[in-house]
Amino acid sequence: MSVLERFRLDGRVAVVTGASSGLGVDFARGLAQAGADVVLGARRVDRLATTAETVEKEGRRALAVATDVADPASCDALVVAAVEAFGRVDILVNNAGIGTAVPALRETPQQFRSVIDVNLNGCYWMAQAAARVMRPGSSIVNISSILGLTTAGLPQAAYAASKAGLIGMTRDLAQQWTGRRGIRVNALAPGFFRSEMTDEYQPGYLDAQMSRVLGGRLGEPEELTAALVFLTSDAGSFVTGQTLAVDGGFTVT
Ligand SMILES: NC(=O)c1ccc[n+]([C@@H]2O[C@H](COP(=O)([O-])OP(=O)(O)OC[C@H]3O[C@@H](n4cnc5c(N)ncnc54)[C@H](OP(=O)(O)O)[C@@H]3O)[C@@H](O)[C@H]2O)c1
Repeated sequence: MSVLERFRLDGRVAVVTGASSGLGVDFARGLAQAGADVVLGARRVDRLATTAETVEKEGRRALAVATDVADPASCDALVVAAVEAFGRVDILVNNAGIGTAVPALRETPQQFRSVIDVNLNGCYWMAQAAARVMRPGSSIVNISSILGLTTAGLPQAAYAASKAGLIGMTRDLAQQWTGRRGIRVNALAPGFFRSEMTDEYQPGYLDAQMSRVLGGRLGEPEELTAALVFLTSDAGSFVTGQTLAVDGGFTVT
């Protein structure tokens, strides 16, 4: 197999959560371009239908499934639907997430718990459901954040805790599953990429952060998707338990 062929995902089936907007749409498109059929999960099914069209335009099959990752039964149902439609699950991209910024002395238990429920617990329910059906050679990628590794000037205890927790979970699931089940588990820690989440920042916030980005700019979604294809394909076959920051150098400043 040539080195470029190692990046191909032909014949694989990928599940992408949070595929109704932002990076999840780019991930679905990129995985389809690499050859995978893609199962799309999120709450807004109308938006998932649009992502499904994007996948089909790349010549691959798509399935949209209404999913709330905070509900373990909904995560199980997404994986069952994937297996019923396409026969297997080889790749899970745990991308669904919510972002909040609430000063710690004002944050309510409900606010804190809701972020952990989606960003951390949701990834665990999805990983459990997927690993039960995955065969050796499969790959899980958890979408963490630079906020799991450092701070960025906003009051984001819940978000940072969820994303740092995801890095620990990645390490442990890799330990449990790579040798015994042949499932690699890695995380991506994106820096700043424009999306509905980053559109909610106050004017000037992103510009102010750019001084900490060695590259001096926002990331392009394709730059993150390329790293995702590396981790999910045979190109990354000896990489497991790792967190790869794709951040233009933010976390080394
Ligand atoms: N953009 C960045 O710069 C950046 C940087 C670091 C990390 N990230 C991470 O990247 C991931 C994608 O974020 P984004 O920037 O693309 O934001 P986004 O456009 O707001 O997308 C978030 C996605 O998560 C889904 N989601 C939220 N709650 C959900 C739930 N309970 N069940 C199922 N799906 C749910 C949303 O779909 P529905 O509302 O339809 O359910 C949406 O598709 C997140 O995990 C985020 O933390 C982003």
